[in-house]
Amino acid sequence: MISIRPRKEADLATVVEWVPDAAALYLFTGPRLRWPLTTEQLSEMESEPNLSAWIGASSSNGMSVGHFDLTQHDETFRIGRVIIDPAQRGQRLAATLVELAVAKVQALGASRITLNVIAGNSPAIRTYERIGFRTYPTSTEPGVVSMELLL
Ligand SMILES: CC(C)(COP(=O)(O)OP(=O)(O)OC[C@H]1O[C@@H](n2cnc3c(N)ncnc32)[C@H](O)[C@@H]1OP(=O)(O)O)[C@@H](O)C(=O)NCCC(=O)NCCS
Repeated sequence: MISIRPRKEADLATVVEWVPDAAALYLFTGPRLRWPLTTEQLSEMESEPNLSAWIGASSSNGMSVGHFDLTQHDETFRIGRVIIDPAQRGQRLAATLVELAVAKVQALGASRITLNVIAGNSPAIRTYERIGFRTYPTSTEPGVVSMELLL
């Protein structure tokens, strides 16, 4: 089992360690952040209006296993920067993490949750589809798939 808590300064280095190269960074953040990823780049994003960053941690030992952030636009929340510790992948933890994020925004009165994912990132797209996200057409850049979940 995992639970979520607000990301702290001390978590930044852990998340940076989960991103070993430029290709992994591109899956994690799209073109948004530059390789090499630094704790400062992640930290700077927190100055964006309405953005909160979260850590998924093991309920048994408190170990950090995943990360995401949420940005609120009225009743729509965008989930971004989803990542699972590479050593913990393949256990469906991402689905649990995103379900916890969905429950959180639902409790805050959200009616819709959206995300962008790099086309071809099948492990991520399958995770989101399993939870009920569906692709919707947008004018975002080519190579990016936009998905939404209506709550
Ligand atoms: C996408 C991601 C969040 C999925 O997390 P997860 O908890 O490992 O997800 P799952 O356990 O459901 O595994 C998903 C797929 O990963 C693959 N997988 C299984 N074990 C794996 C392992 N040890 N390492 C890497 N991938 C593995 C499988 O192909 C699995 O496919 P399946 O759905 O057919 O079983 C994770 O791979 C990740 O952090 N990727 C890098 C960042 C990223 O792409 N984020 C998405 C941003 S939109």
